[in-house]
Amino acid sequence: MKIILACIAATMCFMASAAEKSVAGPGSPERLIPAPSHIEMKEGVFSLPETDAAYYIKGETKDGLADYMEKSGLELSPAGKASEADILISIGPKELKGAATQGHADEAYLLEITPRQIKVKAGTETGAFYAVQTLLQMTVDGQTRQLQCCRISDAPRFGYRGLHFDVSRHFRSKEFLLKQMDAMALLKLNKMHLHLTDGAGWRIEIEQYPRLTEFAAWRPYGKWTDWAADPVYCERTDPEASGGYYTKDDIREILEYARSRHIEVIPEIEMPGHSEEVMAAYPELSCSGEPYKNSDFCPGKEETFTFLENVLTEVMELFPSEYVHIGGDEASKSGWKTCPDCKRRMQEEGLEDVDELQSYLIHRIEEFVNSKGKKIIGWDEILQGGLAPNATVMSWRGTEGGIKALKSGHDVIMTPSGFCYLDYTQDAPFKEPESIGGYVPLAKTYSYEPVEDGMTEDEASHLLGVQGNLWAEYITQDSHAEYMYYPRAFAIAETGWSPAGKKDYDGFRERALALCDMLQGMGYRTFDLRTEYGDRKESQAPLEHLAKGCKVTYNIRYADQYPAGGESALTDGVCGGWTYGDRKWQGFFSDADVTVDLGDVKPIHYVGATFMNVTGAWVHIPQKMEVYVSEDGVNFSLLGTAWQDISDKQNFIFFKQYSVICNTKARYIRVYAQRATRPGACLFIDELVVN
Ligand code: ACM
Ligand code: ZN
Repeated sequence: MKIILACIAATMCFMASAAEKSVAGPGSPERLIPAPSHIEMKEGVFSLPETDAAYYIKGETKDGLADYMEKSGLELSPAGKASEADILISIGPKELKGAATQGHADEAYLLEITPRQIKVKAGTETGAFYAVQTLLQMTVDGQTRQLQCCRISDAPRFGYRGLHFDVSRHFRSKEFLLKQMDAMALLKLNKMHLHLTDGAGWRIEIEQYPRLTEFAAWRPYGKWTDWAADPVYCERTDPEASGGYYTKDDIREILEYARSRHIEVIPEIEMPGHSEEVMAAYPELSCSGEPYKNSDFCPGKEETFTFLENVLTEVMELFPSEYVHIGGDEASKSGWKTCPDCKRRMQEEGLEDVDELQSYLIHRIEEFVNSKGKKIIGWDEILQGGLAPNATVMSWRGTEGGIKALKSGHDVIMTPSGFCYLDYTQDAPFKEPESIGGYVPLAKTYSYEPVEDGMTEDEASHLLGVQGNLWAEYITQDSHAEYMYYPRAFAIAETGWSPAGKKDYDGFRERALALCDMLQGMGYRTFDLRTEYGDRKESQAPLEHLAKGCKVTYNIRYADQYPAGGESALTDGVCGGWTYGDRKWQGFFSDADVTVDLGDVKPIHYVGATFMNVTGAWVHIPQKMEVYVSEDGVNFSLLGTAWQDISDKQNFIFFKQYSVICNTKARYIRVYAQRATRPGACLFIDELVVN
């Protein structure tokens, strides 16, 4: 440790540069993400030597903390004795005495930076590891050696702080996962959810079922979008084969890397739906018994349970996680209604419907997993037909499922898609890579508060935490995946770690800018917050026009799922943003046909409406929009037709205004929009504008 001779001068210099910037400069604890529970600023600066900075650990370690620190950007080497260390780490059950640990003493730490030494105290190696992460962020991965003196007392709000990796839709290399674990550690994220199986490819070696990795892990199309149009698999040896899987040794390497970063890797094996690849490799597990017919396992057949239990046994032997995620989402159940095996099972077990049949499968699997000393997590669809007794629910279709599960005493992880789906576009779709749609900018992810009003203390105690999910249908490249994770994973981390009720988006954004710069310096690709466009301009201020506030009669009613503002939505002056999920767009699963009453006969020169196109979600601009006018509400004449004059396939997400320019008088205006011919196509309109 070196005594700082220029301490006072350095402090003044530091303070001056910090004051000039909107975010505290390198070396300051005020730039940290997630924000620590408590920071006390102190006078002075500690100077970490450029070379031969030394650490000393008092207490027991088993997960490689010393090795981690030596290889980290801090470039530390062991000190001979505690008094010679620049960073003195004390680990033991009594070290956190008196500290507020928010019920998570195993991850808590105290960090005291004095002009003479950095002192870390933690109850466990994990807490000490997080103190090191704090130092890595403060020093910008070791590049800034001048550290603001302070005392940080820190502990997480939630024990579960996760990121999800969809390695099925596009396979990701082991190296990619290891790299993301470094970023996760920096953010104090502690759960890596690996979505290992899905229709697009099976991604883990299972010794008893070699066809899963000889065949079901390979596609003749690299891009998911090409494959989705012709969803077939091929042999691994096929020259066109694209895909991959993790061998058991790969998984062991991933797990070892995770262990030394205090990350629990949670494997997901999907059932009963999203299982086209298994049905292609082992068709006897489907209702039809034929490949390429069913996407779900047949819960009527005992072979299904034998397969699932054998697979889960191999998976549970490999992963030390206390959890195995069993999927459970979006099963079509379509083959079950007519399958003789499923019908027999329902009769024998007294099951009323296919939801109860799914519940039967999940219950049985839970019992098996529990018998091995582990617990299941499932997407919120596992509530359908009755929740398995010990299941943890991952709530993705909003928070309703999660809240229902909390009320029945179940553990819950919140991943509501409107906040936590990182595959949704994070900025204006016209400037972003092709995506699944939606609109979840950083501010939206950051605004998420998991503990909702009215939740009891007991319910909240079952809320384990939060997770950001990145489905990868449209994400072929690793760099694109990173771009989608960062900085929104920062917001997940802060929601999961930092104390409730202290959020300030402007301050967070400044910290996020600094952390993006840091990650970029470390070789990550991040979204450029500095060039963020923001929500659709039209959606940001009310629109004034002649029909605003006028009554609308629905000749065809809107879809109940997408009412926007209901009967007043089309004339309320509120225009939609980048996603129909913002509840400003009114949806029709049919043609749209409405009549507006202006109240009096008035001169009109313009009738128009904007429609949304999201090809991947079956949202299409109409084939045409016809405008009729009437003075009496009985006799209408056609004023004009606006035609679809651009391809709805060229651009994935776009908006098109249909309008008729005129010079007439009318009281009633009828607008008819004919939906696209694609089966299932729907229409979304934000406002019907008359001038
Ligand atoms: C999901 O997004 N289908 C869980
Ligand atoms: Zn069946």
